[in-house]
Amino acid sequence: MKDSKYILVTGGAGYIGSHTVVELYENGFTPVIVDDFRNSHYSVIEGLEKITKTDIIYRKIDVCNFNAFENIFIEFSFVGIIHFAAYKAVGESVLEPIKYYRNNLDGLLNCLELAQIYKVHDIVFSSSCTVYGEPKGVNVVTENTSVQPANSPYGNTKQIGEEIINDVINSGAELKILKLRYFNPIGAHDTGLIGELPIGKPNNLLPYVTQTAIGTLEKLIVFGNDYPTHDGTCVRDYVHVCDVANAHVKGLEWLMKQNSNMTDTVNIGTGKGTSVLEIIHIFEKVSEQLLNWEFGNRREGDVPEIYADVTKAEQLLDWKANRNVKDAIFDAWNWELKRRNE
Ligand code: UFG
Repeated sequence: MKDSKYILVTGGAGYIGSHTVVELYENGFTPVIVDDFRNSHYSVIEGLEKITKTDIIYRKIDVCNFNAFENIFIEFSFVGIIHFAAYKAVGESVLEPIKYYRNNLDGLLNCLELAQIYKVHDIVFSSSCTVYGEPKGVNVVTENTSVQPANSPYGNTKQIGEEIINDVINSGAELKILKLRYFNPIGAHDTGLIGELPIGKPNNLLPYVTQTAIGTLEKLIVFGNDYPTHDGTCVRDYVHVCDVANAHVKGLEWLMKQNSNMTDTVNIGTGKGTSVLEIIHIFEKVSEQLLNWEFGNRREGDVPEIYADVTKAEQLLDWKANRNVKDAIFDAWNWELKRRNE
């Protein structure tokens, strides 16, 4: 298609990536997925084709393989890049740090280098609120809240990734790069055709909740009940994955209006905190069933309470979350039910 506005989406078969592919289509872009499916399923492509009613363009490529990755830049003329492809399991990163550094940093370096060679100027980078570590004395963080030492190799790859981007921009590169720091994306597309598809036992709260409710897992352990929060359990900023996806489109559109050689950072959350116990209660209401759960020990590395100040997202990108935690839990449960019935 001659006039297509092709957007390269690395890791486009992943959780946030796949929902972003839908948003891109709905906003007149043509996403091109690069994913090697090591941590995602081909069924995601089928789900995307049903939602978008179009043939999804995807290539099975490892972004760490420079030559293979370069081929996609030769094949397509991109107007932007969204770089998701990375590992993201905190615990695994502690056990296998080299794997994390190599994958997350090589992929980013290749992406930046190829973007420069092929003159694709606008890039959105997946960062994380993990870069704030345990913020000193505040629970709500702005983009200016100082970054704390990372408490996992995974978190460090995001911090280093941001630093690499800053250095590349400081070198005068003709790139525009937006770093989005996501808080806790949850939920699924409201069709129930795509959603979070963790391979093996989930690490994150919501898939653990829904898989316990459906009977795949026996019991949810709530990690800690003596945190200095209103009910003793950790508080997070859970944001609907479709809202997160939309932030990428808004981000790209904003980047396209900027002058070259710039980078900026934006929090992507709702600005509201929800505790683990509150999540369980909302889930029980939404699903009309009781969840099998009990209190357990604290999980190492968990921050008691953190949520986003989202003023900048609103002011800069004209973006804010349109859905609340209940909507997200409803969609996550719908997705789980639909998968069981397949
Ligand atoms: N939790 C439980 N039981 C579980 C799983 C999680 O009680 O079985 C609790 C956690 O202790 C935490 C909350 O649920 O209090 C949320 O945990 P998640 O693992 O879903 O999310 P995190 O906030 O720990 O992690 C997220 C992202 C990471 C990111 C991190 C740090 O998944 O990628 O935020 O900001 F690095």
